Amino acid sequence: MSKRVQVASLSLFALALGAQAQAAAEPEKEVVEISVWSRVPKSGQPRGVRDKLQQVDLKSLPNETAELFDAQLGRKAKYTFVPIANLIEAHAPTATNDLALLHFYNGMIVPLPFRNAAVMTDLKPVIAIGNFEPLRKDNEGHLDVRPIHFAGNKVVVAKPTHPAIPEAIARDLNPWRHVDSLVGIEFVNDLAYYNQFQVNPGNQSAAAGFALVKQSCQFCHGARKEGAQFGWDFVEPIPAYSWRRKGTHLLYHIKYPRLEGEATGFMMPALRSISAVDAEYIWYWLKAVANEPMPPYAPKAAPRPKTKR
Ligand code: HEC
Repeated sequence: MSKRVQVASLSLFALALGAQAQAAAEPEKEVVEISVWSRVPKSGQPRGVRDKLQQVDLKSLPNETAELFDAQLGRKAKYTFVPIANLIEAHAPTATNDLALLHFYNGMIVPLPFRNAAVMTDLKPVIAIGNFEPLRKDNEGHLDVRPIHFAGNKVVVAKPTHPAIPEAIARDLNPWRHVDSLVGIEFVNDLAYYNQFQVNPGNQSAAAGFALVKQSCQFCHGARKEGAQFGWDFVEPIPAYSWRRKGTHLLYHIKYPRLEGEATGFMMPALRSISAVDAEYIWYWLKAVANEPMPPYAPKAAPRPKTKR
């Protein structure tokens, strides 16, 4: 069974638990071996295929021990760890690939633009190895009923920020806060990866919607089984746009999920900065991606020079 399938069935299970979330599913084995691979395009395989797949035993790699600031905990802690930069260097991703998708057991995917030196210096991402206490999050006085469980490793970053998230949103959304244990690192071409979600470039509302999804939702949600699978897939089995029938219905869910937070275990943060207009754009994209085919994963031969991010 692939990791992706495992992850998806685990999160469905967690959803099925609903209000009795206290007994949230725990990863049943220690993830000290992670998969590392590069995605390459292939005709007949619109999402590409895995290339250079390696199973990396974290315990076999040279490690360091030090006190680090952990943006998930909001404080310093002593860790034994492997810097993610070392793993990347060992895999030697091709020049075309400039984005590392960090896959987590709970289905989250946090992209890391690893060729951006400023980002790497800011975040100093490492994989800490060992046993970690389940993490309870305090949400404005309500204690999370569905704590995060770790299984043998956890990613530690030095800042509660992410390069895809603008400052106004970062107040409410720190994706590192929601991740559990790392299960894989996938190297992709940034432009080609995101281009898959640009279902209709002529539809300006949908394009604006995806730009917002990239900032606020991509870490937890995917579409048509591509991208993260922590929250619901935006298309399968029920297209989110038909479930949240209008932008305003979607707005209530995005902006005020803490109203149902204790029942669902605060898995989705309340994104207060999303406006009614934003929610409308997101809804147009949700509709477009449910009704139009996603472009294939098709990197250009050489990456375009990047000016920002
Ligand atoms: C940190 C992870 C996370 C982020 C970020 C996130 N979600 Fe969610 N979302 C979830 C999870 C987990 C669920 C399922 C359980 C729940 O409702 O808490 C969910 C459920 C949903 C649902 C289906 C449930 C319903 O009642 O409609 C929709 C639609 C949705 N999210 C839209 C969004 C949109 C749009 C964004 C970005 C603006 C977003 N989410 C950002 C984690 C996230």
